[in-house]
Amino acid sequence: MAGVLMEREKSMFSISYNDRLKTYRRFMHQSFNPIAAQMFWEVEEQEARILVENILESPEGLFQHLRRNAAAVIMKIAYGYPVTSNDDHFVAIAEEGIKIASLASAPGKWLVNSFPILRFLPEWFPGAGFKTKAREWGRILYEQSLEPHEWAKEQLRAGTAIPSFTSALLQSSDGTFVDAEEEDKILWCSGALYFAGADTSVSVVKSFLFAMMMYPAIQRQAQEEVDAFFASENRIPTLRDQDAFPFVGAILKEVLRWATPAPFGLPHSTSQADSYKGYYIPGKTSIMPNIWAMMHDESVYSDPFSFDPTRFIGENPQTDPRDYAFGFGRRICPGQHLAENSIWIQMVLVLLTMTITKATDTDGKIIEPEVAFTTGLVSHVQPFKYQIVPRKTAASSLMLTR
Ligand code: HEM
Repeated sequence: MAGVLMEREKSMFSISYNDRLKTYRRFMHQSFNPIAAQMFWEVEEQEARILVENILESPEGLFQHLRRNAAAVIMKIAYGYPVTSNDDHFVAIAEEGIKIASLASAPGKWLVNSFPILRFLPEWFPGAGFKTKAREWGRILYEQSLEPHEWAKEQLRAGTAIPSFTSALLQSSDGTFVDAEEEDKILWCSGALYFAGADTSVSVVKSFLFAMMMYPAIQRQAQEEVDAFFASENRIPTLRDQDAFPFVGAILKEVLRWATPAPFGLPHSTSQADSYKGYYIPGKTSIMPNIWAMMHDESVYSDPFSFDPTRFIGENPQTDPRDYAFGFGRRICPGQHLAENSIWIQMVLVLLTMTITKATDTDGKIIEPEVAFTTGLVSHVQPFKYQIVPRKTAASSLMLTR
């Protein structure tokens, strides 16, 4: 359904391991490896500042502000496109695309995935409405990638392009444009970034805020680390300061473990028969890595359901969850460094400027939130009530008056 019928075999998420995929991976590695990803630090820092300003201005819109941040960071990185409002056209179509893609790839929803022969039914045949749907959805998803791509190309031609993933690949240093075949690969690649990066990043920052609310002593300790940096350096932290924040770093690891954002990674398929620890696995078997189970394995993580960043600090740190959270092998997430940077700077600026606490009801009684997560390709903490208390510190006022 989500591949052949929607004509999305060229999509990064449907494509098998072949030369075209190798080109996609090369493009992404070129732009998003740890050193190259530094090119996007400024965008991530600027957008994190806008995020905290927005939260302090209208805390009731917290979840919407997080989405806006992820959208703005990705659209800038992918196309050099500035998102300036909450009802941005490109963001709206990308969000619609995410909804369609999750429906189209929902396990068990489409009979044609179990009985591929059904794809030969004519569209007018009773019960073959899925074919019309697939054609229409395929068109919408393609346009969702095409429109911002054309916009970026136009900016390049006009000489007004902001450096981005698309602009860097479309035009070589001597000013010549790539050929149509190469351009098609770039279009499909950029089109994958929003799908892969927006919802996952939002999930992690939301879980971070939830954890800070549930574990106030940990929030306080993290704020002390951030405050101590400001006291000694007299400036707002930036992405180049990450090493100076071991406790914040440990919190990021613990959020990725405790609230596993992609619990089953992405589904894969064996290209040939194999055996693993005595289990025979036939060729073309669907494989879904149970990342959630790895993150909650008692033999690796003591007391796995408690949120405890200190498990990653000291003489014998427990296994780094970043080794699993972003998948495995040759399909490992190419946006890992980008994501970690963007999430880290949001965490630090939030800790610097505000405290998140549990909400109270009209009688002043604390509302105890349930610790529960949604299922799906990307898992989110269930919506929760909260209170945001602005921090009146010198660092906070310095940052917010800039
Ligand atoms: C915290 C945020 C993120 C998490 C937890 C995450 C996690 C993952 C996981 C588990 C996979 C599947 C890997 C596998 O198949 O073994 C994946 C694939 C992918 N991710 Fe991420 N990701 C995140 C952010 C991003 C960002 C920001 C981008 C790019 C802007 C991105 C781009 C991709 C792409 C393109 C793939 C498909 C790679 C392929 O199939 O070869 N991700 N990600």
